[in-house]
Amino acid sequence: MSEAPAVSISDNRPLHRYEARLDGALAGFCEYEPGDGVVTFTHTVVQPEFEGQGVGSALALRVLDDARSRGLKVVPACRFIAAYIARHPQYADLVA
Ligand SMILES: CC(C)(COP(=O)(O)OP(=O)(O)OC[C@H]1O[C@@H](n2cnc3c(N)ncnc32)[C@H](O)[C@@H]1OP(=O)(O)O)[C@@H](O)C(=O)NCCC(=O)NCCS
Repeated sequence: MSEAPAVSISDNRPLHRYEARLDGALAGFCEYEPGDGVVTFTHTVVQPEFEGQGVGSALALRVLDDARSRGLKVVPACRFIAAYIARHPQYADLVA
């Protein structure tokens, strides 16, 4: 497994997406739909030049930790987030 890059992640609320940046460049994002007590993750994209470096995993970890800290359940409509939860069962209790 490759080492996780120094990635900075922020929640761009107006656009309903978490954005991952490497040296300021947008490397990827995770889109969501906010709901009542629940957040649905719809799509995750990492730019091809940044794929396979752990950016997607860093996004998954952040969005799931944020959902937990906000007391939200999650709907992993995005296949990548669903696969991440399957590999990290400590997040299984978050699934609505
Ligand atoms: C899927 C995607 C977001 C992964 O981003 P990434 O930064 O390359 O992911 P990581 O480097 O953190 O890899 C995480 C793991 O996810 C796995 N993975 C890659 N693509 C996957 C997919 N489509 N579904 C589930 N798991 C996937 C990798 O095998 C890797 O496993 P490993 O750590 O055991 O090697 C990226 O490849 C992408 O944007 N693909 C095109 C869009 C897409 O298919 N999105 C997913 C559906 S919403």
